[in-house]
Amino acid sequence: SVYTDSEQASAAVARQIADLIRQRAAEGRNCVLGLATGSSPTRVYEELVRLHREEGLSFRNVVSFNLDEYYPMAPDSLQSYVRFMHEYLFDHVDIRPENVHIPDGTVPQEQVADYCRRYEEQIREAGGIELQLLGIGRTGHIGFNEPGSGASSRTRIITLDHITRTDAASDFYGEENVPRRALTMGVGSILEAKKIVLLAWGEGKAAVVKRMVEGEPTDTVPATYLQRHPAVQVVLDDAAGAEL
Ligand code: GLP
Repeated sequence: SVYTDSEQASAAVARQIADLIRQRAAEGRNCVLGLATGSSPTRVYEELVRLHREEGLSFRNVVSFNLDEYYPMAPDSLQSYVRFMHEYLFDHVDIRPENVHIPDGTVPQEQVADYCRRYEEQIREAGGIELQLLGIGRTGHIGFNEPGSGASSRTRIITLDHITRTDAASDFYGEENVPRRALTMGVGSILEAKKIVLLAWGEGKAAVVKRMVEGEPTDTVPATYLQRHPAVQVVLDDAAGAEL
């Protein structure tokens, strides 16, 4: 779907998520969400907070798994995705802290592989992700699955692309301060979600959106693998959809 502006689009996505949360609550079940960071989903989170405050939308039955985190990264650091999620969503709603999962950027390197396996196990134990929210990086990454990430890649540590580190430079007051690596759910892990909602706003994303939608599936643009998923919704504003 292409919307005239990202505000309208974000409100529609937030409503969709809220409906799913309420539906599961009515069934007495948990709602397992895959969550993303970056500038793309912020308005969705703001709208969910508004629905919590004004319509009593409860997050008591929500279990969340975030896609990725820089590595290494202290949770209380300004640029951590832990801080981001608390600032935009978790601190303002009634989600249970034990239901929140974000890859841990402090795991010692020799334990990372085990940790990533365990992260995937936790997703499976929760019943799998029902709705996965995604942004897209200019390199064609989803999560932090940079070019070279295969369709069956799993949660792991990855070296960040130069372009990604350039794009993150302002958050870190200089590219030299951007971590060189990250933990990320794999493309294969992401494709296991029942439903995927990818958000992209602005002219800076138009070229990569075109490659994602119209290009052949290839690991040089990992987002192209989303074409193989049966239930992907690509939500764009006019500018991001301009080259389609
Ligand atoms: C980061 C995140 C991605 C996100 C991407 C796009 O690299 N790890 O998950 O999709 O940036 O960010 P933005 O939404 O700010 O454009």
